[in-house]
Amino acid sequence: MVSNSFLKLTAVGLATAQLGAAQTYTKCNPFKKTCAADTGLNQWQLNTDFTSGSSAFSKWNTTSGSVESTSLGAKFTISEQGDAPTIESDFYIFFGRVDVKMRAANGTGIISTAVMESDDLDEIDWEQISTYDSSIETDYFGKGNTTSYDRATTVDVSSPEETFHTYSIDWTSSRIEWLLDGSVVRTLEYANAVSGKNFPQTPMRIKIGIWAGGDPDNAEGTIEWAGGETDYTNGPFTMYVDSVNITNYNPAQAYKYTDKTGSYTSIKASNSTSSTNLGSSSSSVASSSMASSSSSASKTASSGSAASASASSTMSSAASLSQFCFVFAAGMAAFAAGIFQL
Ligand SMILES: *[C@@H]1O[C@H](CO)[C@@H](O)[C@H](O)[C@H]1NC(C)=O
Ligand SMILES: *[C@@H]1O[C@H](CO)[C@@H](O)[C@H](O)[C@H]1NC(C)=O
Ligand SMILES: *[C@@H]1O[C@H](CO)[C@@H](O)[C@H](O)[C@H]1NC(C)=O
Ligand SMILES: *[C@@H]1O[C@H](CO)[C@@H](O)[C@H](O)[C@H]1NC(C)=O
Ligand SMILES: *[C@@H]1O[C@H](CO)[C@@H](O)[C@H](O)[C@H]1NC(C)=O
Repeated sequence: MVSNSFLKLTAVGLATAQLGAAQTYTKCNPFKKTCAADTGLNQWQLNTDFTSGSSAFSKWNTTSGSVESTSLGAKFTISEQGDAPTIESDFYIFFGRVDVKMRAANGTGIISTAVMESDDLDEIDWEQISTYDSSIETDYFGKGNTTSYDRATTVDVSSPEETFHTYSIDWTSSRIEWLLDGSVVRTLEYANAVSGKNFPQTPMRIKIGIWAGGDPDNAEGTIEWAGGETDYTNGPFTMYVDSVNITNYNPAQAYKYTDKTGSYTSIKASNSTSSTNLGSSSSSVASSSMASSSSSASKTASSGSAASASASSTMSSAASLSQFCFVFAAGMAAFAAGIFQL
């Protein structure tokens, strides 16, 4: 969801972002077309302990670079220009809570991100800019709307690049909370996101990765936003993710957009993956308990490592590039905010 305006404003050095955005847009956007149903997480909770070995990735796809399990957790490293290791959940959740315990990368211009994204470009973000070792940004987008860039906030956090902190998003149909180590640091009410129009409300995947906003080939504004040029000789730069705990407030096998409104009331959660059967066995989300409070997240967890499916560790470079651009669009948008203020 790199914005068009962003691309227009910054032609230099953005060939990859442009390509990525184009690929993102050719993917089925249910806001514009009829698309296949999303695969849901059909359980209340999924905890992933990334210190537990390669089985930890069974519910995650590596979409760029390589990511391995270590004693400190999943290791995302940038060693040289072009590295942008990224993973994403191989399922969607439909309202829920995501806790990410991570230590951001060090260096200059390296962006550590934990974001949620839907097919119609709703997005909820945490982004740490390594240049600033006492803060992290929150952000959100509705339907890829980047007509204004006033949504990001900066949250103080102590030594995010030296210390593990837990960054959470608790997302219901009425509000989004960002929590730092269990304390709410930002709340977005549905009504305050352009009367809900800009409120993220469609099934989301979880995407985690790092990229070099300070890459010397990036546009000047991007480098500025990232706090300066990345000097790869100071690397490697590594982010560690200890664990990710996910609660899905509407567990289901599939989520189907029943129209092009992009409204949460148009999403049918279903325990049948057969498209012909989606209607009969599905229950409208309106009847599900969507306003679950964060306290319900304490229900019994099942271990992510118990899952048997094996995630693919490599994808085509085209897919990787697309994911790179997709995941990091928020950073681009934040940068564009700077442009607009000029
Ligand atoms: C994850 O990878 C598997 C195997 O390549 C693929 O079938 C699946 O569609 C991927 N999931 C997502 C959400 O892209
Ligand atoms: C996830 O849950 C496990 C088990 O309760 C806990 O040890 C871990 O710290 C949690 N991780 C996050 C990111 O909350
Ligand atoms: C996009 O967001 C802006 C506010 O940021 C709002 O004024 C505008 O109506 C939104 N556009 C659409 C199509 O929702
Ligand atoms: C991060 O970089 C700063 C400055 O280069 C350095 O002082 C600090 O020790 C580094 N922290 C880690 C965890 O490597
Ligand atoms: C689907 O099945 C799961 C697990 O049995 C259950 O928790 C959930 O409520 C079901 N969802 C729907 C939409 O029927």
